[in-house]
Amino acid sequence: MTQTLVLASNNSGKLAEFAQLLAPLGFHLKSQGDLNIPEAEEPFGTFVENALAKARHASQLSGLAALADDSGICVPALGGAPGVQSARYAGEPRSDAANNAKLVREIAQYNDKSAYYYCVLVMVRHAADPQPIIADGVWHGSLIEQPRGQGGFGYDPHFFLPRLGKTAAELSAEEKNSVSHRGQALRALINKLA
Ligand code: IMP
Repeated sequence: MTQTLVLASNNSGKLAEFAQLLAPLGFHLKSQGDLNIPEAEEPFGTFVENALAKARHASQLSGLAALADDSGICVPALGGAPGVQSARYAGEPRSDAANNAKLVREIAQYNDKSAYYYCVLVMVRHAADPQPIIADGVWHGSLIEQPRGQGGFGYDPHFFLPRLGKTAAELSAEEKNSVSHRGQALRALINKLA
């Protein structure tokens, strides 16, 4: 039996990626934008709280089960920043170029250039679900000053993977999905659902 699931995001790339991987489990995905659901507030200090708020909001307004993600880059030398502020690290309007410039500037004084991407996925069966299904993924790398690569988005041109000798922006979409924080979280979620 097919179950409709609303994705608490308007990102068409994410919708396509999630829809493809969840279809074999009987889920049909709709984006919240298609259902005229406005974006939820993300006021919390942790990724999981924000993802849960987004999932509950989408479920509440649609009456459907909902899936939400929240992700970002964390830099231990900066106390975990940009973290939940990743999308707007350099303020509004949101700009990848400004965020990257700020991150490169902030990390310059530290020897420890390590960084990791984090993604959490939260699925609720209904808005008041007392037992959300939660899965996450972590992707370790380090920051480089000079950007490399044209792929990906966000901080990818500065996110270097020593074992691959490439930045995340130099990976194909398939390569990135096979190792990324989002890919790991999605596979973990699918394992839980299966
Ligand atoms: P969101 O969870 O998709 O809203 O992502 C939050 C922010 O984290 C993005 O706007 C990016 O700045 C950053 N981010 C999350 N995942 C990635 C990634 O895979 N590559 C580059 N930046 C990312």
